Amino acid sequence: MHSVVISGTGLCQPPHTITNAELVEAFNRYVDRENTRHAAEIAAGTRPALQYSSVEFIEKASGIQQRYVFDKSGILDPARMYPHYAERADSELSMMAEIAVAAAQQALAQAGRSGADVDAVLCAASNMQRAYPAMAIEIQQALGAGGYGFDMNVACSSATFGIEQAVNAVRTGSARCVLVVNPEITSGHQAWNDRDCHFIFGDVCTAILVERAEDAVGADQWDVLGTRLATQFSNNIRNNFGFLNRSEDSDPDARDKTFRQEGRKVFKEVVPIAAAHIEGHLADLGQAPAAVRRFWLHQANEGMNQLVIKKLVGEASRDRAPLILDEFANTASAGSIIAFHKHHADLMRGDIGVICSFGAGYSVGSVVVRKR
Ligand SMILES: CC(C)(COP(=O)(O)OP(=O)(O)OC[C@H]1O[C@@H](n2cnc3c(N)ncnc32)[C@H](O)[C@@H]1OP(=O)(O)O)[C@@H](O)C(=O)NCCC(=O)NCCS
Repeated sequence: MHSVVISGTGLCQPPHTITNAELVEAFNRYVDRENTRHAAEIAAGTRPALQYSSVEFIEKASGIQQRYVFDKSGILDPARMYPHYAERADSELSMMAEIAVAAAQQALAQAGRSGADVDAVLCAASNMQRAYPAMAIEIQQALGAGGYGFDMNVACSSATFGIEQAVNAVRTGSARCVLVVNPEITSGHQAWNDRDCHFIFGDVCTAILVERAEDAVGADQWDVLGTRLATQFSNNIRNNFGFLNRSEDSDPDARDKTFRQEGRKVFKEVVPIAAAHIEGHLADLGQAPAAVRRFWLHQANEGMNQLVIKKLVGEASRDRAPLILDEFANTASAGSIIAFHKHHADLMRGDIGVICSFGAGYSVGSVVVRKR
C-alpha cells in the first residue's frame, strides 16, 4: 500500500455574476407575466397565484448573496428562465470538458505536473451532459493524459466519492496520479422559476490531483489520512430527468425533470447524519473533532454548516469552517472543494482538516487530510 497525497487543486470560475437583487427582479417579472397569463383561472380560484421572491428571505434562509453562471441572459429573461448554451459539434470540445480542462490545468500547475503525468481521470459531478462517451475520456484526451477515465455521479457528494476512488487507486497501485474533476453546470438543472429553490445554485468546476506521496514534487501537499463514504436513500432531493423519459412519454419540461427538494426536511435530516459521520470517521483515525484545525464543508446552507460545527466542536466560526456559498451559492459537489482550494494556505505543517460533502442520495463523504 502506498501513501497518498493531494498535491493540487484548481477552480474554473464562470464569467458572469448574478446578485440576489438581479435574480429576484427577474423572478418577480416572471411571476407578473405568469399571473397575468393565468388571470382568469386565478380569479376563478382554480389556480393559485405565484408569489414574489425576496432578497431578504434568500439571505436569511440560506446565506447566499450571489452566484456565478456561464450564461446570464437566459436565466434573467422572464420569458425563458434558464441559460442559453450553444449546441456544439461532435468535433468540438464539449462544455463540461472545457471547464474541467481549465480547472485541471491549475491543479496540475500547482502540483508541478503536466497532463502526461496523469494516468487516470475521474469526472465526478451531479449531471453529465451526455450519456457517452464518458466525459472523463474526452478530458483525458484534451489533457494528453494516459491510463483510463470514467464518469461518476453521487450528486453533491460526487467530488468526495471521486477522491476516495482516486485515493484507493493510488494506494493499491492501479494508478499513480489521478485527476478528479467536478464540472458542476448547475444552471442546467436548476428550476429558476420555482420560488422555493430558484436562488440555490451556481456554476463552477473544481479539480483535485491525487498522487503517490513518494512521487509528489509540488510545494503544497496534503497527506490523505482517510476517506469514508456513506449513503442512505431519500426522495427529499430528486430529479427525474433521464434516458427513459422519452419511452415513458413524459413531458420533458415537467417540474420533476429538474432539481427539486424538501429543503426543510433535508436541513433537519442531513445535519445529524453529517455531524455523526465526521465524528465517527475522526474517532476511527484516533482524532478528536476539537483537534481539527479546519472543516471544509459542503456549501448548501450557512445555518446547516453552523449546526454541524456546533455539534462537533461547540462553536462555529468562519475560521473553523470557511463559508464560500455567500459568493458562489450551492455549487453541488464542488462546494467543499472550493472551500479547501481557497482556504488552506494559512494552515501549518501537521495541521489536520476535514473535507466533507453531504446532499442528495442522501450521501456523505469525508476526506481527512494533514498538511505535510
Ligand atoms: C431551501 C432553504 C434555503 C429554504 O429555507 P427554509 O427556511 O427551510 O424555508 P421554507 O421552505 O420553510 O419556507 C419558509 C417560508 O418562506 C417562504 N419562501 C420560500 N421561498 C421564498 C422566497 N424565494 N422568497 C420569499 N419567501 C419564500 C415560504 O413560502 C414559507 O412561507 P410560509 O412560512 O408562509 O409557509 C433551506 O431549507 C435549505 O437550505 N435547506 C437545505 C437544502 C440542502 O442542503 N439541499 C441540498 C441541495 S444539493
